[in-house]
Amino acid sequence: MNLNELKKKAAWAALDYIHPGTIIGVGTGTTIFYFIEALSTIKNLIYGAVSSSNSSTVLLKKKGIEVFNLKNFSSLNIYVDSADEINSRMQMIKGGGGALTREKIIAKIAKKFICIIDKTKKVDVLGKFPLPVEIIPMAFSYFLQEMVKIGGIPKYRKNFITDNGNIIIDVYNLSIKDPISMEKKINSLPGVVTVGLFASRSADIILIGKKNGIQTIKK
Ligand code: 5RP
Repeated sequence: MNLNELKKKAAWAALDYIHPGTIIGVGTGTTIFYFIEALSTIKNLIYGAVSSSNSSTVLLKKKGIEVFNLKNFSSLNIYVDSADEINSRMQMIKGGGGALTREKIIAKIAKKFICIIDKTKKVDVLGKFPLPVEIIPMAFSYFLQEMVKIGGIPKYRKNFITDNGNIIIDVYNLSIKDPISMEKKINSLPGVVTVGLFASRSADIILIGKKNGIQTIKK
């Protein structure tokens, strides 16, 4: 079974957590592509979605799912998204698709965060996947210097502008033993919009697509 099939399995399993008449927070990426497909099969049961990126908004609308503007919401029942890495405390690296800032807002306001992954995303220590950080362009040199100071190898994500008009720096070579303090530290640097560490707000449920079915991990 290839990875896409495992992502698809996890995505369809998330439908069990969707209650009729609700608005669903929807993430971004290849796993979420499958989730949007799955969600479209019950679109008449739900009220609509709040989207974490322009690309997911396009897909949702294409599937006939109404998309509401995130700016009008301070609370949501459920958020379904994937991750680039997730540890046993359900803390994540996200932002491989560059949608980390809106994803963080949705994660914060959602009562339940369901993380759908294939088995390769589960790790012991976060950091093998380069940590994405959205920064404003003016902070470029300063931010790179700060990442080198903490042992990181920062790389500018070429030909990529976020939905918010900013740039992304992917920080390699980090072994993140204390994700909460790293999240706070990077978020506090001037010019940083969002760090792709989802540690203080971790996931609530993980659905892992596996060859023989779904593994569910709850907090
Ligand atoms: C996008 C994300 C995605 O959840 C993450 O990159 C995983 O993507 P995929 O499902 O394509 O593996 O954080 O910003």
